[in-house]
This record gives sequence, C-alpha cells and structure tokens, in this order.
Amino acid sequence: MTEEQTRVRTYPPPEEFAARANVRDAGIYEEAARDPEAFWAGRARRLHWFREWDEVLRWDPPEVQWFVGGKINASYNCLDYQVEQGRGEKTAIIWEGDEPGDTRTLTYSELKAEVEKFANVLKSLGVRRGDPVSIYLPMIPELPIAMLACARIGAPHSVVFGAFSANSLRDRINDCEARVLVTADSGPRGGKRTPLKANSDEALEDAPSVENVVVVRRTGDDVSMVEGRDHWWHELMAGADPECPAEEMDSEDILYILYSSGSTGKPKGIVHTTGGYLTHVNTTTDWVFDLKEDDIYWCTADIGWVTGHSYIVYGPLSNGATVLMFEGTPAYPASDRWWDIIERHRVNILYTAPTAIRAFMKQGTADIEKHDLSSLRLLGSVGEPINPRAWEWYHEHVGGGRCPVVDTWWQTETGGIMITPLPGITTTKPGSATRPFPGIFAGIYDDAGNEIEGEGSGNLVIKRPWPGMLRTLYKDPQRYRETYWEKYGDVYFAGDGARRDEDGYFWITGRVDDVINVSGHRISTAEVESALVGHPSVAEAAVIGRHDEETGQAIVAYVILEGGHEGNDEMAQELRQQVRKVIGAHARPQEIIFTPDLPKTRSGKIMRRILRRLSEGQEDLGDTTTLADPSVVETLRAHAGGRS
Ligand code: WTA
Repeated sequence: MTEEQTRVRTYPPPEEFAARANVRDAGIYEEAARDPEAFWAGRARRLHWFREWDEVLRWDPPEVQWFVGGKINASYNCLDYQVEQGRGEKTAIIWEGDEPGDTRTLTYSELKAEVEKFANVLKSLGVRRGDPVSIYLPMIPELPIAMLACARIGAPHSVVFGAFSANSLRDRINDCEARVLVTADSGPRGGKRTPLKANSDEALEDAPSVENVVVVRRTGDDVSMVEGRDHWWHELMAGADPECPAEEMDSEDILYILYSSGSTGKPKGIVHTTGGYLTHVNTTTDWVFDLKEDDIYWCTADIGWVTGHSYIVYGPLSNGATVLMFEGTPAYPASDRWWDIIERHRVNILYTAPTAIRAFMKQGTADIEKHDLSSLRLLGSVGEPINPRAWEWYHEHVGGGRCPVVDTWWQTETGGIMITPLPGITTTKPGSATRPFPGIFAGIYDDAGNEIEGEGSGNLVIKRPWPGMLRTLYKDPQRYRETYWEKYGDVYFAGDGARRDEDGYFWITGRVDDVINVSGHRISTAEVESALVGHPSVAEAAVIGRHDEETGQAIVAYVILEGGHEGNDEMAQELRQQVRKVIGAHARPQEIIFTPDLPKTRSGKIMRRILRRLSEGQEDLGDTTTLADPSVVETLRAHAGGRS
C-alpha cells in the first residue's frame, strides 16, 4: 500500500474558521455548475471595467474569448481601483530583502505613483501598446512595479526568472522580440549574488530587437553601461512625468507572456490575456486564501514563475491585499529565516511549495519552536504533489494544528488555481487537492479518449474553457493546438496523471509527459539533453526524473561520451556547468551516469521508463521486449556503479 492509501484521517474545516470564512455555502458548486457563464460573469463584476462585455464566453475550440467586448486594465484594478475604495494609505507591499532588517513598504498610493512614473519611462523609450517588454529582475519592488507599468500601457510583459542563464534569457527575448529589457546590476539571494547585468550583456550580444535597457541599482556592484542603450532606473524615474492614466485595454488583449518548459527543447511562450485571467486570479485569491482586509499574505514563490504572477501580483493586489515579498532564501543567514519573517511581520496566510516543507521537515522542529507563529491562519501548497506526511507536518508544526491547508493544483497554462479545497467548506485529505474550484470542470480520460467516470485513474483533463486559460503559445498556434488539444479534441489535456477516489476527490500523480518537476520547477528532459549534447565531448544523453525525498524529483543524466571515452568526476562537473550555462543553475543534473549505451526501441526512441526504473534501483524493469538490444540493461546496471 502506498503512503496515501493507508491514510484514514480527514480534516474538516475548523468550526471557528468556517464560521467567518469568505465562502460558507457549499451550494456555490452547484450554482456554478448550473450556469458557469453566469457564475464567472458575477465574479468579473467585482473588478473595475471601463466598459462591460457584450458576451461572456466565445468558445471555438481551441480558441477562447472571455468577456468579449469588455474594456479593462489590470494595473488600474490593482492600483487606482484600490485607492478609490479607500485603500490609498493601506500597505500594498512589505518587502524584506536578503539581509534581515533590509525592509521597505509601499502603500497602494505609493505603488501607484511608482507605476505611473515607470509607465511613462517605458513610453519615453518608445514602448507602445502591444510591444512586449522583457524583465529580468530579482525579487525587489521594482519587479511588480515594472509589470504593472507594462500592464498600464498595454505592453505585454515577459518576466524571466533571475536564475536563468544568459543563454535562456536571450532565447526568451528573441522569441518575443522585446525592444526594452529591465534588469538590475545584480541580485542578492542567500548571501550570494547573481550578475544579472553581466548576464544581460551577454544575452544582448545576440538579441538585436533590444534598443534600450533599464538597470535598477540594487547592490551597487560595478557594471558596464553601454552609452545610448543602458539607462539607470533611478535616473529615468527622477525625470519621469508622474501621471499616466491606464489604457482601456480589450478584455482579450495580451497581459503577459511567460515561458515554460514543454516536452520539446524549446520553451513555450504561454499567453495570458486580461479580463478572464484577472477574474480567475481575483476570485481564487479571495476564496481559496480566504483573504481578509487586515491579513498579511505571503506567497514564497519567485515572481519569475506563474505562482508569483498570479498570487503575488495580480490576484492579491486586485483584492487590495497586503503582500509580503521576500528576496532571499529559507536558510540565510540562518535556518529559521522564514519563521522569523512570519513572527516579525505577523503573517496570516502562507503559500509555499512541498519541497520547502520537506526540507524543513528534515531539519526538525527546533527552529519553529523558537518563534511565535500564532498569527498564521491558513496554509497553502502548490507546485507538486504534496505527500501526506509533509502535509501533516505542515499542518501540525507550522499551522499549530489550527490552520486549514489548501493544496492547490494548477499550471502556468491554467493561469490560476483549478483544483483546491475551499477552506471554510472542504474536508481535506492530506495529499489530495480535493475538488475542482466552482466553475471549473475537471475530468479523467484514458489514453484512448474515454472518460473515466467515478473512481479511477488516467490523464487529467479540463472539460470546459475557464477564464484564466492560456489563449495560445506566442507566435506558435500550431504547437498550442498539438500540445493541449490534439489528444482529446475540445477537452484540455493537462499533462498530469490523476486518480479520483470514492468521494470524488482528485489525487494528482505527476506529469505524464517528458517534463520533470524539481522543487516545483518545471524542467524539460529534452532541454537538459540538448544542453548536454551541446558539449563537444558528449555523443548522446538521456535525462530522466528520479523520485527524490526532498525535491520531489531529481535530474539524472545518462551520458555517452564521444569516441567511447570513459567519464570521470571532472567531466561530470564540467557537464553540470554546461547545463548551468545553457539553461540555469536550477536545471543541473543531480547525478550523471556515464554509459556506453542507452536502451532504445527498434525505431531508435530512448526508453526513459527503463532508465527511470534502473535509476531507482528497481529490479523489475517492466516490459523490455521492445528493446532493440536487451543486453543494454546489463551494461547499464554495470555502469550505474560508476555514477558521479
Ligand atoms: C505540478 C505551477 C500536484 C503539476 C502552479 C503541474 C502540482 C505543474 C500541484 C505545473 C499540486 C502544480 N499537486 N502537482 N498542488 N501544483 N503541480 O506550470 O505537475 O510551474 O502540471 O505551475 O506542477 O507547474 P507550473
């Protein structure tokens, strides 16, 4: 029996919590199911629209439009509309830097003023409605300021996570042909610094679309500034016009592009538009996190990933929340940093990833016991399946046994949370994301395309369009169609496996494609393989995700060297460095196994399933009859001894 099947304990919402929850009536599920369009339209009305839509939904699979004809601006909703509702003096962002004590707060009025000025800076650099802007910044207030400034003038932003290499940055800039790049001198994290400007300079050697670079002085590190191209943020801001009214955008205008890994080497430019996306993240933030006016809300993700876009920036700010934003890591300068932050800022809501929880679990509870975490009221989890033991540890030790835990399943593509408990209603089961959010229709299909009703396992699908749905892949509608819609027609194929239990609860089992999830970061096996074979000594490489107690999955690379050379530790180090350089540090293989051969089918396809089982030390490799050369298994077993 697996860990999850032996569990019997369930957790009904604590009475006191349920009594004052934002959603108390379970009838909302039925109401939304009866008329999903009316349900979402009702939710959209919480936002500010310059003009209401003519039609709620236009669905011509796989093309979707929500709130057709509506005029809206995301930046207006996150700023002006909040000020209009009396939140001008309310704190929008509490920022905590990498060094303890380095903090900054911005009220909604202050944030609005910064955003308006930076929007004018972008305009003065020639950015017009529809022109993508690339942003490569650390977790500092200038990051949401730049994003909201783009949204204000209708320029789609493309945020690139700070750990990505120069090479990855260049590809992302070139794909969307940004004319402006916003970056910083360097980014501090955990006492170390990422040379963002130097990486940008390297990327720009081969990114001809970029005409202007805006550089935030974050650390004061020495950087080279190219005359005419590079400008200091603070200098441009000092001369910027303070007023920039928000553009009336069409509901379906692009709000942002965010690159994510797919099952081929090339990252996918996931496109989100404005009205539907904002409706989705606004409502899910309110209902899933049970946000209250005085809450201090902390999502530990980096804004460079979708979780930060939706649940640090657009969801919470469009609800007028006070958002804590942290630049550093859990372990710097000491292993109790997070608990110290929660205690000092009296954080009420914590949204984080299972991998962090498992890392804390390993350290024991001493750090937690040193701090007063009684302000916490609700805990969230996202990014990968949370195993029941980690769930319970989170509930008991971080939440003191009193906070509901919401395990939220969603993806960059879905824009917002899709399967989740509603904390005042749902009885949770550790390890299950429970039920689809009201107005979301999830299902399970088998490989042949038959829907599995009731209990059973298969591929997770979404059966009807939802407001936060990706609209396409940037400049690649064909790949959009193939990746998500070819398998099942007008049903969205999520790429995850799932099981539904006797109560209709969903248990997400992980990716069914060639995407690995390491510490909640999506990494494509093909991308790592292509980085490895880019090294002159590598003839061939196969990459798999091996189960890992802490990070969920760990990257294992099987490598064949040119000319049959034997590998050694030095070569393994060099190859890790190669992956770091081509993709970024987060994609480095944990283990590199040199081998003279790989398991392939007769048509030459690498059988990763066999490598996965071998790497986990399993005796049973499953069906090996399709192997072109069955003796390869013994060769691999012999070489696994020589792992690096
Ligand atoms: C996985 C992050 C299980 C899943 C928001 C999905 C999860 C991928 C959960 C998307 C969860 C995310 N339980 N698995 N609660 N949340 N995943 O695009 O495999 O970075 O397809 O979006 O993470 O990762 P992405």
